[in-house]
Amino acid sequence: MIYAFVFGKNWKLSLAEILSYFEYREIKWSFVDLSKKAIVVDTEISPQDTISDLGGTLKIVKIEKQFPFAELFSQDFGDWTERPISVYGSYKLLHNIRKVFNIVPKDKVLSHTEIISKGLKESALIFGLKTCYWGKTVAVSNPFGFKKRDIQKPAQRTRLAISPSRARILLNLSQAKENVLDPFCGVGTIAVEAIFHGIKRVYISDYDKEVLKDAEKNVRWAKKVAGSNAKVIIKHCDARKISECFSKVEAVATEPDLGVSLKRRPSKADARQIILYLKPLYKKFMNSLRDCLELGGRVAITLPCINSKSGKVYAGKFFLGYELVDPFESIAQRYREFLKLDGKTVLDEEREKGVKRNVIREFCVYRLREKATKK
Ligand SMILES: C[S@@+](CC[C@H](N)C(=O)[O-])C[C@H]1O[C@@H](n2cnc3c(N)ncnc32)[C@H](O)[C@@H]1O
Repeated sequence: MIYAFVFGKNWKLSLAEILSYFEYREIKWSFVDLSKKAIVVDTEISPQDTISDLGGTLKIVKIEKQFPFAELFSQDFGDWTERPISVYGSYKLLHNIRKVFNIVPKDKVLSHTEIISKGLKESALIFGLKTCYWGKTVAVSNPFGFKKRDIQKPAQRTRLAISPSRARILLNLSQAKENVLDPFCGVGTIAVEAIFHGIKRVYISDYDKEVLKDAEKNVRWAKKVAGSNAKVIIKHCDARKISECFSKVEAVATEPDLGVSLKRRPSKADARQIILYLKPLYKKFMNSLRDCLELGGRVAITLPCINSKSGKVYAGKFFLGYELVDPFESIAQRYREFLKLDGKTVLDEEREKGVKRNVIREFCVYRLREKATKK
């Protein structure tokens, strides 16, 4: 069966998550096409289960027709021409599409929010590299599910907490199956998602005792709502000495301290100072983790990238004993070149409403290659 996975706002992050998910869930798939809007694959999945496992996919479309755009007029779409159609890519051709389909939304696409709240049925036209793909939308991400978890969890910390959908992406990038650790847990957003994601052992810690009380409340709430019997172990721990608190960790999904929140863009020199200040924290944490993470285990982590007045300042990516994973390894070079899919990390520049982002999250995935040598 051919399916198109329609990406969220950050297409690279959505793509990295899907590829990682296919890999660790051992889902057989073969590549059909890729654009900045969607990946088209041949696979056997349950679309509804798959979309609820993913944080960055908006829709799954079951492809029924593939054709060069010039053949649009000779295709038979039955009564689907009278239903809404979302168009992904090649908007210059919209006037042609409007000659065939009578309901093309003003913004070219129906949002997943609209589809769910109004109970609409739609089809989608997706432009690939050479061909276009048409099919019916068979699964839609439920933004209200993520939102509900975000606003209903008893303890909030809106400014610092990661969003539930980003937390889900980190979990899929970490490839955790049996257990996962978040050593900078804050109010426990990642732990809450891990519980809803069905992970049976969740380890969380923070060095702030107060915040741990909130994390505990959120975890209790999540277990109740999800009807989960996951074992969640909460510890008061300095991440720089994480191996003193946990052992046999399979994977890590975390957002560490990203530095001070910046109201204005700093100078490049100030941005460098901030990154320099954070460096020992990351280094010591990653080093101590070598004692408790299983060999080959993954660390999905966001590192800060500061938008200074004169360009971006990145955190160092090298950590002894680890290799940076290329999340796009399985994508053919010609697609990578065409779509400028370079680099192994993904910046999350998307701005939240009303929040000016001067500190951008950079999503990185590491694999432990060498355990620490015993002293
Ligand atoms: C960006 S926040 C994480 C937010 C979290 N994902 C949430 O949803 O609430 C970073 C957290 O790291 C914690 N932290 C900073 N340095 C730490 C250290 N050395 N050891 C443990 N926790 C630390 C802070 O207390 C803070 O809660």
